[in-house]
Amino acid sequence: MQDVDAIVKEALAAFAGIDDADQLEQVKARYLGKSGLLTGLLKRLGKLPAAERPAYGSRINAAKESLEAALNERRESIQARKLDARLKEEALDVTLPGRGLGSGGLHPVSRTLERIETLFRSMGFEVADGPEIETDYYNFTALNQPENHPARSMHDTFYLADGRHLLRTHTSPIQIRYMESHHPPVKIIAPGRVYRVDSDATHSPMFHQIEGLWVDEHITLADLKGVLAEFLRLFFERDDLKVRFRPSFFPFTEPSAEIDMSFGEGWLEMGGAGMVHPNVLKNVNIDSEKYQGFAFGLGPDRLAMLRYGVDDLRLFFENDLRFLKQFN
Ligand code: PHE
Repeated sequence: MQDVDAIVKEALAAFAGIDDADQLEQVKARYLGKSGLLTGLLKRLGKLPAAERPAYGSRINAAKESLEAALNERRESIQARKLDARLKEEALDVTLPGRGLGSGGLHPVSRTLERIETLFRSMGFEVADGPEIETDYYNFTALNQPENHPARSMHDTFYLADGRHLLRTHTSPIQIRYMESHHPPVKIIAPGRVYRVDSDATHSPMFHQIEGLWVDEHITLADLKGVLAEFLRLFFERDDLKVRFRPSFFPFTEPSAEIDMSFGEGWLEMGGAGMVHPNVLKNVNIDSEKYQGFAFGLGPDRLAMLRYGVDDLRLFFENDLRFLKQFN
């Protein structure tokens, strides 16, 4: 029989040379497994003379215990080494300064709309709102737009697939919606997005308008001109700014005008305006003998371009942060 001490010595040397947990278990089997060396000795214990059995048996058991102990120690040190390596590899430097959170800011058009709202509120106007998806009735019919008017064509208007709805082409439908539910005096502005089939440096298929509407018993064209001149002077902070009306046509105002403001040596067109057409008032059941008023539509994108010195309207809607960051 192989000497127990020799087996223990060999096993301890083998365990000590192993760095891998799986390999260690395989080597363990060679000594302590079912057909391992120590197990083999135990099996043959019965062939020894009865007198020698107890002493030899307890030597084998002691050897087993010392191998188990050595194995456990080895297992632990392999695991500890593995953990160390992993900690080193995944080390985080918690003392590094943070990257910080970027702070957001308002879009230049939003800032402009807020400024416009503040100025009109200071003149007693309330701010109204309406849907961007409209019906033909609110966008055209109720605004006295005849059935065959060219603005209704597919070339200018985005129609929805259902054929019954469209993307509003102007904010004027809010006039109708507001007057349907409010009796004069009505004194509102209504900012919002509008849509037209159009795209170049000064036209975007989506752009903004500010509708204005003031209906009461004694509103005149002079009030219209006064309000617009006052607004533009406040907006551009220039007392010497001039406003000019040019005769024009809109189905929902009579008379109608294009609004120009003085700019350097010349004039710039800022929007359309006029006295609310009696047919429009009739469509919302307001007595046009008793009440009259004015309406206007301004282009806030154009106001933002002038205020910030931006020469291409499309820049506002490309969402390029390099551009947008300059305004905050
Ligand atoms: N809705 C007109 C447009 O989009 C502008 C306008 C508004 C004109 C109100 C007169 C009165 O061109």
